[in-house]
Amino acid sequence: MTTTPSIAAFDATPLAGKTILITGGAQGIGRGIAQAVLGAGGNVFIGDLDAEAGKACIAEWNVGKRAAFGVLDVSREASVRRWIAAARKRFGPLHGLVNNAGIAHAHTGPLGELSLDLWNRYLATNLTGTFLCSKHMLDDLKQHKGAVVNIASTRALQSEADSEAYAATKGGLLAFTHALAISAGPHVRVNAILPGWIATDAWRKPTERHAPALSRRDHAQHPAGRVGTPEDIGALAVFLLSAQSSFITGQHFVVDGGMTVKMQYV
Ligand SMILES: NC(=O)c1ccc[n+]([C@@H]2O[C@H](COP(=O)([O-])OP(=O)(O)OC[C@H]3O[C@@H](n4cnc5c(N)ncnc54)[C@H](O)[C@@H]3O)[C@@H](O)[C@H]2O)c1
Repeated sequence: MTTTPSIAAFDATPLAGKTILITGGAQGIGRGIAQAVLGAGGNVFIGDLDAEAGKACIAEWNVGKRAAFGVLDVSREASVRRWIAAARKRFGPLHGLVNNAGIAHAHTGPLGELSLDLWNRYLATNLTGTFLCSKHMLDDLKQHKGAVVNIASTRALQSEADSEAYAATKGGLLAFTHALAISAGPHVRVNAILPGWIATDAWRKPTERHAPALSRRDHAQHPAGRVGTPEDIGALAVFLLSAQSSFITGQHFVVDGGMTVKMQYV
């Protein structure tokens, strides 16, 4: 005899009691994800190169022991180790990692003029940083059936001219995501989010914060009718970090207001 399928109540705080580490979590999309995690009942440990921005988050959130900040450079292994050790000391068990830190500027100029040094800087932050943080948190995540969310970009799938370094790092993140999902399963799930145009000006540290200067045309070109916000990415990140998505791993999800499915012939 089978039991009758029941109607489960929607869990509005699916991350209650969980601790999530977020790289580049002091500004922009990372801050949006951190606030969504806090809203979903979780604890956050944000890491960022910018200490002024990190400290401002903790002061502005005013959530007591549920949030903390540690200085982090994701491209340096010693810094990654120190940051994760600080999270363990502060929170105990670690349940999630969001690899968000990145050099977000996509345009690096014509390939013939792109220096090896600049290419390597993009790789070090946007791709190697995700490798290092994932590597050093994997055992913690395995112990607690954790999840990783990698923040890539729709530029992993489509391009404007002169963006090879950025696009290559974001494409690399998609491959890293499915590879790690296979290696780390069934204990750890790994997924990626591909944001489109996300306006982050209002999510910067207080000294640099301003309203985004977006035109009617900027919004209207999106099939969803508007440019994206960090909250749009935070909502999906919470879902992918929570048990509500426990049958989803190795996948990537586009959050771009429909821009990548819009056919364009001039
Ligand atoms: N904003 C967008 O439209 C957009 C679109 C697609 C993808 N993304 C991706 O989302 C992520 C966040 O982008 P954003 O627009 O919020 O950028 P942002 O510049 O507003 O914020 C990035 C944060 O990461 C920090 N950071 C940079 N290098 C770091 C390092 N080496 N170690 C630790 N922290 C570091 C910065 O100090 C900053 O606080 C990036 O990976 C970016 O490529 C952004």
